[in-house]
Amino acid sequence: MSEPVRVQDRVVIVTGAGGGLGRAHALLFAARGAKVVVNDLGGSARGEGANASAADQVVAEIRAAGGIAVASHDSVSEGARIVEQALDSFGRVDVLVNNAGILRDKAFHKMDDSDWAQVCQVHLDGAYQVTRAAWPHLREQNWGRVIFTASTSGIYGNFGQANYGAAKLGLYGLTRTLAIEGRKHGVLANAIAPTGGTRMTEGLMPAQVFERLKPELISPLVVYLGSEQCQDSGELFEVGGGWVGKVRWERSLGVGFDPVEGFTPEQVAQNWERIADFEGALHPRDNLQSLQQMMANLQKYP
Ligand SMILES: NC(=O)c1ccc[n+]([C@@H]2O[C@H](COP(=O)([O-])OP(=O)(O)OC[C@H]3O[C@@H](n4cnc5c(N)ncnc54)[C@H](O)[C@@H]3O)[C@@H](O)[C@H]2O)c1
Repeated sequence: MSEPVRVQDRVVIVTGAGGGLGRAHALLFAARGAKVVVNDLGGSARGEGANASAADQVVAEIRAAGGIAVASHDSVSEGARIVEQALDSFGRVDVLVNNAGILRDKAFHKMDDSDWAQVCQVHLDGAYQVTRAAWPHLREQNWGRVIFTASTSGIYGNFGQANYGAAKLGLYGLTRTLAIEGRKHGVLANAIAPTGGTRMTEGLMPAQVFERLKPELISPLVVYLGSEQCQDSGELFEVGGGWVGKVRWERSLGVGFDPVEGFTPEQVAQNWERIADFEGALHPRDNLQSLQQMMANLQKYP
């Protein structure tokens, strides 16, 4: 038997935990002995309105099962207030699960500024606001875990989700840099791209599949990423339906042209197949590794 994954007594904020995936994360953290701030504005899937009962119900569920939780009804746009509530209630914050989200799906040619702005505001700015407020506390205590909720719509694209996809892959960019900045302070940041049957995905897939993609099938990964055992940082995982996998960048070996003489669009065209050939591809992990081929090319033509 492997040792239990430890989140006992950790103070965990889960945003958007009044339903769907966030609720399942909050319940599992609480069942494992964490103290949970159940945050949810309680609006519609499009981000309209507000209702305190969403978070309150999840808190009641956790308490009924003998767990420890408090409700937070602020929008993630008010990130500092959510973090303050964790500090007021439990004296610290250890784990932050950025999960709150809305949808404003529309083909790009029909998308208006408010569809774009609202989605970026909740997913990208909202995660920024809460994380920025928690960050100094995580750094100071030399321990923290931040989990961002990305999406396959950001990684691969999806019709009608230009706003959502941009915000979601933006969160992966944020994850990568926070992993670098947090590492020496014991603060780890990772991202998940989940697929689960929630109000957000209802009607988008056959009912039998929807029912089997239970939100609870995402949470074990999230709790692991929030635990003492997790040592990975800056990583992205796809998860759903009981399956978990890791995603990484892949880049072709590429083609080096003469940087002194310069090169032409025709040379690009002539070498197109080789530029895009993934045979023997590389998987750069950071900026330094990513620049190696370019630097080697400069050295080849002094
Ligand atoms: N369900 C999926 O298959 C799927 C796929 C990819 C990504 N995601 C992401 O997972 C996360 C959870 O989504 P879900 O499927 O559980 O949907 P959901 O609508 O059930 O949950 C989202 C929750 O966030 C809350 N919320 C919205 N705006 C908020 C705000 N400003 N402040 C605080 N809370 C707010 C909502 O009230 C809701 O309870 C989202 O970030 C979503 O984009 C879900």
